[in-house]
Amino acid sequence: MRDITFRSIGVIHSRFKQQDGTPTQAAYAGDAEGSLELDPAYAGALKDLETFERIWVLYYLDRAGPYQPLVVPYMDDARHGLFATRAPSRPNPIGISVVTLVSVKGNRVEIRGLDILDETPLLDIKPYIPEFDAIFPSRAGWFDASRTKRRTADSRFGSDE
Ligand SMILES: C[S@@+](CC[C@H](N)C(=O)[O-])C[C@H]1O[C@@H](n2cnc3c(N)ncnc32)[C@H](O)[C@@H]1O
Repeated sequence: MRDITFRSIGVIHSRFKQQDGTPTQAAYAGDAEGSLELDPAYAGALKDLETFERIWVLYYLDRAGPYQPLVVPYMDDARHGLFATRAPSRPNPIGISVVTLVSVKGNRVEIRGLDILDETPLLDIKPYIPEFDAIFPSRAGWFDASRTKRRTADSRFGSDE
């Protein structure tokens, strides 16, 4: 395996300061507002992004606890393989969220509907394109069968655990 080093391209601002109480997925975040503050060196790369209604945000889950091969995710009461979940305690703690784009001004992207902690390092932004990204119907394994879909996180995947 290779060692790979990434450099964040900016920082994510959010009203969520700790895992406990944060939405468990962007889809459950309602109108929670936040912003992506990019390194000004990347501002030019935002050209035309505002023509998209939604964007993928990729980020470093900097406050995730250590890797766990099996986890009880927020969306179920049973234990599942980490890679069959979206839990933060991953070998490479990378988060992905589809959020609503509100505006782009200079090096700042205002967004809505995020499940991301304040001051999270931003890794990448991509446009959300339904033709590529929304594939129906799609089987969703244990998630389809689960009846315990928690919409608010607790501290189970935190770095203090
Ligand atoms: C279940 S994860 C899903 C994250 C992302 N939507 C995904 O699927 O990759 C969502 C939880 O991650 C936690 N979280 C958000 N930002 C984080 C960060 N910077 N470090 C550690 N945990 C974070 C919050 O508790 C939030 O409720």
